[in-house]
Amino acid sequence: MRGFGIASAAAALVATTSLFVSQVAAQNDVDPIVIKGSKFFYKSNGTQFYIKGVAYQQDYQGGGNSSSSESDDQYTDPLQVDNLKRDIPYLKQLMTNTIRVYAVNPENDHQEAMSMLADAGIYVVADLSQPGNSINRNSPAWNDQLYARYTAVIDEMSKYSNTLGYFAGNEVSNQPNNTDASAFVKAAVRDSKAYIKKQGYRDIGVGYATNDDADIRENMANYFNCGDQEDAIDFWGYNIYSWCGDSSFTESGYDVRTKEFSTYSVPVFFAEYGCNEVSPRDFTDTPVLYGDKMNDVWSGGIVYMYFQEDNDYGLVSVDGDSVKPNQDFSNLASQLSKVSATGTQMSAYNPTASPAECPEVSTSSWAAKATPLPPTPNQELCSCMYNSLKCVISSDVDQDNYGDLFGTVCGLGDGSQCDGITANATTGNYGAYSMCNSTEQIAFVLNQYYQAQSGSNQASACDFDGSATTKATQAPGATCSSLLQMAGSAGTNSVSVQPSVTGAGAASSETGGSGSGSGSDSDSSGSSSGSSGSMTAVPSVEFGILPVAFMATVAAVSGFGMLLL
Ligand SMILES: *[C@@H]1O[C@H](CO)[C@@H](O)[C@H](O)[C@H]1NC(C)=O
Ligand SMILES: *[C@@H]1O[C@H](CO)[C@@H](O)[C@H](O)[C@H]1NC(C)=O
Ligand SMILES: *[C@@H]1O[C@H](CO)[C@@H](O)[C@H](O)[C@H]1NC(C)=O
Ligand SMILES: *[C@@H]1O[C@H](CO)[C@@H](O)[C@H](O)[C@H]1NC(C)=O
Ligand SMILES: *[C@@H]1O[C@H](CO)[C@@H](O)[C@H](O)[C@H]1NC(C)=O
Repeated sequence: MRGFGIASAAAALVATTSLFVSQVAAQNDVDPIVIKGSKFFYKSNGTQFYIKGVAYQQDYQGGGNSSSSESDDQYTDPLQVDNLKRDIPYLKQLMTNTIRVYAVNPENDHQEAMSMLADAGIYVVADLSQPGNSINRNSPAWNDQLYARYTAVIDEMSKYSNTLGYFAGNEVSNQPNNTDASAFVKAAVRDSKAYIKKQGYRDIGVGYATNDDADIRENMANYFNCGDQEDAIDFWGYNIYSWCGDSSFTESGYDVRTKEFSTYSVPVFFAEYGCNEVSPRDFTDTPVLYGDKMNDVWSGGIVYMYFQEDNDYGLVSVDGDSVKPNQDFSNLASQLSKVSATGTQMSAYNPTASPAECPEVSTSSWAAKATPLPPTPNQELCSCMYNSLKCVISSDVDQDNYGDLFGTVCGLGDGSQCDGITANATTGNYGAYSMCNSTEQIAFVLNQYYQAQSGSNQASACDFDGSATTKATQAPGATCSSLLQMAGSAGTNSVSVQPSVTGAGAASSETGGSGSGSGSDSDSSGSSSGSSGSMTAVPSVEFGILPVAFMATVAAVSGFGMLLL
């Protein structure tokens, strides 16, 4: 309760004086967390840092319910001053030093909220996606729209000394046949890290939060950790729900997981835990997680979750200004009071683990090639390309119909007109324009087709029943010329240039969530993660629909396309 008083006083001070005060507070209040080897440390005194975390996001509509909405704002920014004022006292009773937030709005100013958390000694791990704009396991992409979202969140959150890290994805791949999606997530890790570096921000780690799926968990952990470390995760979050009720270290499989990660080269922690198959939850795993058997390998964990909602994982019930802790809350508090992991001192720690070997592509178990990864989104390259085209999509074609048109155009001839926009993580073939938006992509293929026709045929080749139309082209400037030249006329070369466009101001996305993408299933040893369903990526309409529609329609409509022409 004392902490609450301090936090309120700080908030009041900020409100009544200048921004300067809160800036100073935000920058000085906490010691940033740094990574060395597979452990976290307080930067200035080198004490090891164990995450004592709580997932903190209300009404997060990640699941199938978002299909009807056209808006991408299906989430409420969890970092709100009034709510934090209400909740921080309870988080402190749980000895919380970290909260995980799944979707923050980068257009909001989080100065005061982050200051209040800092005053309470609480760090934040933020996911970079949001429900309407995240990597979809069924038709994965890493594109301009996602890049704008990720970098906008990085721009906003990197200002605060209590930002502990970012998640570039949460439970995207969940079975062998969608492991190709992990290539796009790893590209997101790579580009988020490069962006932090390029902007000169503090060295904040970028990780991934994985599903505990028996078929893919080892390959997943290895894939994200292997190869060039500029592309690899800085930490690994493990969402695990295999300790239910009165379980044990061995029965839960925690023993095997611990062994698996005992040689991992970056920090690993539970990014969500707290099975609710037996209720109330007694959290008998908590002292084990921070105890001798596990605390040399794991950096603590994040309990799922603060708010009681339909999925029944809440530690408290919130109604307006009132907070009612439930039995889980007191059980967790009592378990945490037994925890006293001290770990090792940074200066005394000499990491020896090296990165894992990359998994090989295999039809039955792993579908993502380790290199090359998907290209870095580059909006400038895409608009240079678009501006150079003579034949584009008519503005009156609804985006919902792009899929059919892709099918038609790509089904013509040998299909090579589409090489510049395809992305295949299993073969490692990525067109330079595979990260562009769908308007640019469809225009690119229409134009490729158009350019390939000769003489009198050409006049009628930019039509497709009125779907395509010719436009004036702009002479490309020097930058565009050089970018376009790198991509090559077929768009099949790789363009290895960091985008010059940053996240700021580019955060808004055009479309909202569509249908599925939310996988609640997890075949962890004897348990399923009920929470992950509400927390998983929902695909965006525009980018979600393309590859699926594309594959499905190529065969069906290519004949029709032939007739048309
Ligand atoms: C190191 O700093 C942290 C945060 O300021 C503090 O909680 C911890 O107790 C310090 N360690 C020691 C050994 O003083
Ligand atoms: C999802 O929609 C159904 C039916 O409209 C509703 O009963 C359910 O409560 C919704 N779930 C959430 C998490 O909002
Ligand atoms: C992927 O595999 C699962 C079973 O592991 C199966 O149910 C699903 O239909 C498969 N999906 C595709 C697209 O093949
Ligand atoms: C998609 O690309 C076109 C052409 O570059 C551009 O005009 C349009 O604004 C882009 N759409 C979005 C949502 O960014
Ligand atoms: C990638 O290419 C392989 C080999 O051509 C093919 O079997 C697979 O279906 C392709 N994957 C996607 C997602 O298109």
